Amino acid sequence: MKILVTGGTGFIGSHTVVELQAKKHDVIIVDNLSNSSADIVDKIALISGIKPELEVFDLTDKDLTSDFFKRHNDISGIIHFAAFKAVGESVQKPLLYYRNNLESLVNILQGMKDNNIKNIVFSSSCTVYGQPDELPVSENAPIKLAESPYGNTKQISEEIIKDTVKATDINAVALRYFNPIGAHKSAIIGELPIGVPNNLVPFITQTAIGIRECLSVFGDTYETPDGTAIRDYIHVVDLAEAHVIAVDRMINNKMKNNYEVFNLGTGNGYSVLEVINSFEKVTGLKLNYKIVDRREGDITQVWANPDYSNNELGWKAKKGIDEMTLSAWKWEQALANNK
Ligand code: UD1
Repeated sequence: MKILVTGGTGFIGSHTVVELQAKKHDVIIVDNLSNSSADIVDKIALISGIKPELEVFDLTDKDLTSDFFKRHNDISGIIHFAAFKAVGESVQKPLLYYRNNLESLVNILQGMKDNNIKNIVFSSSCTVYGQPDELPVSENAPIKLAESPYGNTKQISEEIIKDTVKATDINAVALRYFNPIGAHKSAIIGELPIGVPNNLVPFITQTAIGIRECLSVFGDTYETPDGTAIRDYIHVVDLAEAHVIAVDRMINNKMKNNYEVFNLGTGNGYSVLEVINSFEKVTGLKLNYKIVDRREGDITQVWANPDYSNNELGWKAKKGIDEMTLSAWKWEQALANNK
C-alpha cells in the first residue's frame, strides 16, 4: 500500500516511515525541510534498506499540493505530521502557526476529496485537554481552552477534520500524543532540535554532552510528590507503531466510526526529577541542573488513560522510561561522534 507521510523527515515522521516500511508499505514523503534535512531519507534507508521517495515542497502551497495529489491519486492512506510545534514560538508568531498548520491541512483534505483518497491519520496532542479535571485522562475528557496558538491549531485541526469527515467520504483518525521522547535503537535517527531545545529530554542530553551548561528545572512547587511537573513520556518507536496500526485499521475498514480519536501514552506519569534520575541511572552520569521559576503556560500534571487505544487498536506502549532516556542518550552520543 502506498502511504503518504507528510513531515516524514521529522522526528516522529522518520521513525514512522521505518515502521511502515517494516510492514511492507510503500512510503512517499512530502516535507518542506523547514525543520529537518533531505539526508534523513538516506538514514532511513540505512535502517530499512529502502530509500523512501521524497518530494520537497510546502503543503501550504495550494497549487503544488493539488498537483501532487493529481500525480499520486493511488495513495491508500496519509499520515499528516507536517506542522510547526514550538509552543513559545507560536505565542510570538501566531499567524505563522495558523497559516502553516491550518492551510496545509485544508489543502491536503481538498486534495483527498478531489482525488478520492479516503484515509488520513492526524498528528494531534494531549495539549487539547489542557490541565484535565480527572487523571488519567481519557479521550472523552473535555477539550479545554487552548493555552497557545500551537495548541489551538491542534484543536482547530481536529474540528476541520471532523467537519470534513461528516460532509465527505473521508475517514480520519486523530492521535493525541503525550510526550514523545527517545530515538531509534540504531541511533541513526532521532530528534534534531534546531537551536536551544524547548523540550526536556533533548535539553538533558545536550547538557550531559556539554552543548548546554545547565538544565533549568521549571519549578519545584507544583502539587506533586516531589514538586516538579508530571508528564506521560512515550518512546517515539512505540508511537510510530501506533500510526502503522491506525492507518492499517482504516485501509482494512476496521473503523468503528468515520472519525476516531485515540490517546497515545503509556499511562504512567513521571516528574521532571524522575526523568533526570532515570537519565543519571542509565548513563551513570551526574546531570548539572538547577531549579528555576515555573515556565509560563505549563500545567501541573497529565498522563493518559490508554485503555481505549490498548483495547481498540490492540496496541500498547512497551518501552519504559529507562529505555527512553538511554536511547535518547545514545542518539546524542552518535550525533557528537558524527560531527
Ligand atoms: C509541550 C506541549 C505539547 C507539545 C510539546 C512539543 C503543552 C501542555 N504541551 O509539551 O503539546 O506537543 O511541547 O513541543 O503545551 N522542562 C524543564 N526544563 C526544560 C524543559 C522542560 O523543567 O528545559 C519541564 C517542563 O516544565 C515540563 C516537562 O519538563 O514539566 C516537559 O516539558 P516539554 O518537554 O517542553 O513538554 P511539554 O511542555 O509537556
